[in-house]
Amino acid sequence: MLEIRNVSRRFGKKTAVDSVALEIEQGQMVGIIGRSGAGKSTLLRMINRLIDPTDGAIFFDGKEVSAHRGGTLRRWQRDCAMVFQQFNLVPRLDVLTNVLLGRLNHRSTALNLMGIFSREERAMALGALERLDIAQTALQRAGTLSGGQQQRVAIARALMQQPKLILADEPIASLDPMNAKVVMDSLRDINLREGITVITNLHTLDTARAYCNRIIGMAGGKVVFDGPPEELTREAVRLVYGADANGEEISEAITSTSIRAERLPRIESAGSLVPAFAGH
Ligand SMILES: Nc1ncnc2c1ncn2[C@@H]1O[C@H](COP(=O)(O)OP(=O)(O)OP(=O)(O)O)[C@@H](O)[C@H]1O
Ligand SMILES: [Mg+2]
Repeated sequence: MLEIRNVSRRFGKKTAVDSVALEIEQGQMVGIIGRSGAGKSTLLRMINRLIDPTDGAIFFDGKEVSAHRGGTLRRWQRDCAMVFQQFNLVPRLDVLTNVLLGRLNHRSTALNLMGIFSREERAMALGALERLDIAQTALQRAGTLSGGQQQRVAIARALMQQPKLILADEPIASLDPMNAKVVMDSLRDINLREGITVITNLHTLDTARAYCNRIIGMAGGKVVFDGPPEELTREAVRLVYGADANGEEISEAITSTSIRAERLPRIESAGSLVPAFAGH
């Protein structure tokens, strides 16, 4: 179980995350929603220890994550894999090597320096690529793949870590609808089949509702909603996103930034599309 105990993070005078307390049982699929600047990325980054809390502490299975140093920190970062909006692959390396990089924290520094991966590791990497249905790209340079393919490579790399958690920061925000579905389907499949906890920031409500069994809504650094999708009523949505500048109704298609709403392909079903921010 992941326990976030009254965690805050300040940047100068700005409080990005404000006394957040959460308990996340192993195997949950959690979606974090909220406006731009609500603190979603900061929260994920603290779990992974990319940044540290200013106050409070994070525990996993009773051990204090925020106290890990050196080897135990390395092990923790292996246990909780990150998936980013911009994939973070090494574009000039081939896909297979990118996936193998997920093994680095399992290996000795000497082996890493020699850059030698075992037959088993290569087989495992190919297996991960097959599972994501992109094995045919194994020898291509990662930079030549489409965004959707690159994100699948990133998920295969995450699987190579054999993580207990996958933290995904807007994994589908740069993808077209079809690829967004493939990526979310694969995260759900990993969650269901391996029991890996998935915590993902999402900028559309429909996706959170469709894929997550728990939704956490953040506003101004605080958790303002925490419950199953069916409890996310219009009132709750208003609490998370607030009313927009003109006091218009919050639409189901709301995104965390108005720019994104105009720029990005939408993955919602056509029935729920309301161009809430167009023109503002
Ligand atoms: N490294 C940093 N230095 C200074 N301020 C920061 C830093 N990281 C985040 N912030 C601030 O903290 C607040 C929360 O940022 P965060 O990136 O967590 O929001 P978010 O919910 O992920 O937003 P978005 O939907 O745009 O990704 C914002 O006001 C942001 O400007
Ligand atoms: Mg963010």
